[in-house]
Amino acid sequence: MTTIRRPVVLQLSMFVCTVLTTGCPSRDRSTAVAGATSAHAVTAARSATAPATDVGSSGQQAQAHDPAHPPIDCPLRKLGVDPLHLRPFDDVEKYIAFLEKPERAAWQKPDDVVAALGLKGSETLVDLGAGSGYFTFRFANALPRGKVIAADTEPEMIRHIHHKVMSGGTKNIQVVLAKPADPEVTKDADWVFICDVLHHVPDRAAWLGRISSQMKPGARLALIEFKEGKLPEGPPASAKIPRAQLVSLVTKAGLALDGEKRDILPYQVFLVFRKP
Ligand SMILES: C[S@@+](CC[C@H](N)C(=O)[O-])C[C@H]1O[C@@H](n2cnc3c(N)ncnc32)[C@H](O)[C@@H]1O
Repeated sequence: MTTIRRPVVLQLSMFVCTVLTTGCPSRDRSTAVAGATSAHAVTAARSATAPATDVGSSGQQAQAHDPAHPPIDCPLRKLGVDPLHLRPFDDVEKYIAFLEKPERAAWQKPDDVVAALGLKGSETLVDLGAGSGYFTFRFANALPRGKVIAADTEPEMIRHIHHKVMSGGTKNIQVVLAKPADPEVTKDADWVFICDVLHHVPDRAAWLGRISSQMKPGARLALIEFKEGKLPEGPPASAKIPRAQLVSLVTKAGLALDGEKRDILPYQVFLVFRKP
């Protein structure tokens, strides 16, 4: 699902900077990336260099934390990214609402997707490109003795999921700010779940190769991408990846096709691969 029908060239294009108060008020952007490292600095830096239509310049006042989203020890801080200094993006709220829109369930069938993995309840699953956590929290419910690692390259998404985890008291979700080119899949992962993310990734072969190399033997990867053709949902045709190309990309990355869930999703291909 690409975002609000914008060019696919990374999330930067979809997050047009304006006013937002999702939890942490904006302050001085000049120190936004102080201490940030490597890939994490990149995401923070692009936030910091966005056009100057911040809370101050718009005339709106920064809001205090929503009591439902109390200030917490955000994992972004541990990476040297101060969430108080992240550039807020107006479109983040819209994007989260887009991913979470109630009518999505009619075709995304999240409960059926989770059930289709046949989880026993004690596995470790990486929700790679977790976005708003649409699947993350459902997987967490299905893994009462296991855990979900929600990874995304967008700090704003990580902040959103983390606040939801903390305010909801969920115990079995870890949030991770992913590096764009290196997903750093934990070696104990039994599953990697990737829904509507691959078409956002510029170098798919390299990215899938990294994922495959990091998965343990026997671990599985569930991949969901939009089908070709004119559909009521999904990215523009130019951003779609044909099914045959999906299979080719992932098998060349070193995983074997293990199954396909053909009858669940009307608009998406749902493939399962296994690490030999
Ligand atoms: C269309 S959203 C899908 C979110 C979620 N999987 C869902 O189905 O609701 C795509 C997400 O992938 C993330 N993303 C894009 N490239 C990524 C990468 N290289 N590694 C991890 N996440 C990435 C984006 O930040 C965005 O949150």
